[in-house]
Amino acid sequence: MTFNDARFIKSAPDLSHCPDDGLPEIAMAGRSNVGKSSLINSLTQRKKLAQTSGNPGKTRMLNYFLIEKRFYLVDLPGYGFAKVSKKERSRWGKVIQEWFLNRTNLTLTILLIDSRHEATALDRDMMVWLAEHNIPFALALTKCDKLSNNKQQQALQKIKSLQNAMNIEVPVVLCSAMTRRGIEELTDLINEFSYRDGQLHN
Ligand code: GTP
Ligand code: MG
Repeated sequence: MTFNDARFIKSAPDLSHCPDDGLPEIAMAGRSNVGKSSLINSLTQRKKLAQTSGNPGKTRMLNYFLIEKRFYLVDLPGYGFAKVSKKERSRWGKVIQEWFLNRTNLTLTILLIDSRHEATALDRDMMVWLAEHNIPFALALTKCDKLSNNKQQQALQKIKSLQNAMNIEVPVVLCSAMTRRGIEELTDLINEFSYRDGQLHN
């Protein structure tokens, strides 16, 4: 199963410009260049619905995609992009934080982590922050097409050990926008959360 009806709705610079129709929302978060926009394209089987780029820092707004007229996938700007000025990074941190803390219709966040590397300090901070604020999330280990089967299993084990150490237990999906590995599993997860009617945190 994939999401067939997908359309771009708007790019919001901050919380005050986001849709106010109360539909459930599922966010894609993670560091710049990890594959958030590519994953949205895979989930919707559309090559260019979300703009992707080999250069980090492509997505600078909160991009809203309406899926099957019933929920939104939200493509968030990535963190950890070195070329952004300190001032802009801090502004963005505030925008994203305000967004997460006030989007009561956010039912799930998918936090993307590059399967080729260990979770960075920023990835770990994000996991802790989401957990501390009771924001439901799942992990997607991206670009697994770049790893051998053995290395894929190692990446899974590592993230599971990290979760144990952090006392955070959430679903983990190994995925690739290129081979579509894990896309069905993510689609099922998104589908499940897309029917919940928000109010999961206050
Ligand atoms: P920002 O918008 O900068 O935060 O980045 P993003 O997380 O949206 O990343 P994006 O989807 O633009 O992808 C970044 C680069 O990684 C692009 O060159 C993609 O083609 C590549 N990429 C994304 N997903 C995959 C994947 O599953 N496999 C491989 N091999 N490359 C991928
Ligand atoms: Mg992007």
